[in-house]
Amino acid sequence: MKIAVLPGDGIGTEIVAEAVKVLKALDLKFEMETAPVGGAAYEAAGHPLPESTLALAKSADAILFGAVGDWKYDKLDRPLRPEQAILGLRKALGLFANFRPAICYEQLTHASSLKPELVAGLDILIIRELTGDIYFGQPRGRRTAVDGHFPGAEEAFDTMRYSRPEIERIARVAFEAARKRSKRVTSVDKANVLETFQLWKDVVTEAHKDYPDVALDHMYVDNAAMQLVKAPKAFDVIVTGNMFGDILSDEASMLTGSIGMLPSASLNDKKQGLYEPSHGSAPDIAGKGVANPLATILSAAMMLRFSLNQPEAADRIETAVKKVLAQGLRTPDIYSDGTTKVGTVQMGDAVVNALR
Ligand code: NAI
Ligand code: MG
Repeated sequence: MKIAVLPGDGIGTEIVAEAVKVLKALDLKFEMETAPVGGAAYEAAGHPLPESTLALAKSADAILFGAVGDWKYDKLDRPLRPEQAILGLRKALGLFANFRPAICYEQLTHASSLKPELVAGLDILIIRELTGDIYFGQPRGRRTAVDGHFPGAEEAFDTMRYSRPEIERIARVAFEAARKRSKRVTSVDKANVLETFQLWKDVVTEAHKDYPDVALDHMYVDNAAMQLVKAPKAFDVIVTGNMFGDILSDEASMLTGSIGMLPSASLNDKKQGLYEPSHGSAPDIAGKGVANPLATILSAAMMLRFSLNQPEAADRIETAVKKVLAQGLRTPDIYSDGTTKVGTVQMGDAVVNALR
């Protein structure tokens, strides 16, 4: 088994180092090979996703990814920006199904921005379509407007689009996932306004016919945003498009205490996967040794479970994370009175110790 390790930039290098430490402590047989990606690759090779990095990713059974992006690259042409590396990997590997479990650990019930009773025991799964929608739709660009409110003005445009098979395959992923949980799927759309999401709703409804044991309901995205903070435990599996899923999963992260707690898995139809924390490169705290490595460590656990067929090892990691939280250890993003503030490396060390 080969794992491609792509730390990226910003806090990416710091948090991936901790996840690698945890993986090594498991004493399992796999090979890990590291390659630059994002800003780090731009600095080293002039491109955020060099051919050699892409080749390594393609040849691996699983990819452990940190994060990419920094404000200092905002002025670069879009194809050279670090974020193109993660979009490029998702596209090149066909990683269309993004799993983002939002679990509120018992020890963090009070770290949530919601009242403890609203999040106690929270365990929902957001399934985000990852290779379509307005993030990839063509055409896109800038031009001089010929109509609209300000003809002659500079305007920009992107294209929201989904095809029937793209929607159907993510819907099936959601129904299958729900079968292993409490058998409820909420499909989030904006069918009242957008044709793309009317097709989404139609296709999800049709696919549902093959899953009579799973309950399906539909919700508009604005209402879903509201319900997520009103009564998050009413959800089980949420399935939605790329952009809505991006936004709703960040929102859901705050229910769990911190975005630094939220892992993710992005899978293709061959069960090859890319595993990364749901957050970005956090340039505001990069290099300070304070980033929470738990989302990345929990992503490594998802990798062991989904791509490397090591469910016991995944359980061990998750148990170790609960143990360090129970010990009261907190990185600053989840620190509160009565807990012990630790940095990135100390948190990683604590997880390794808890494994033993
Ligand atoms: P972000 O997720 O990097 O940061 C948002 C806030 O959360 C910041 O205040 C940050 O300090 C905090 N935060 C994030 N992860 C944390 C952790 N592990 N521990 C403690 N605090 C944490 O999102 P932002 O600021 O919108 O984007 C920063 C850069 O990251 C941008 O260049 C963006 O494009 C990129 N990005 C990359 C992603 C990826 O590599 N998959 C995903 C999202 C954003
Ligand atoms: Mg995001």
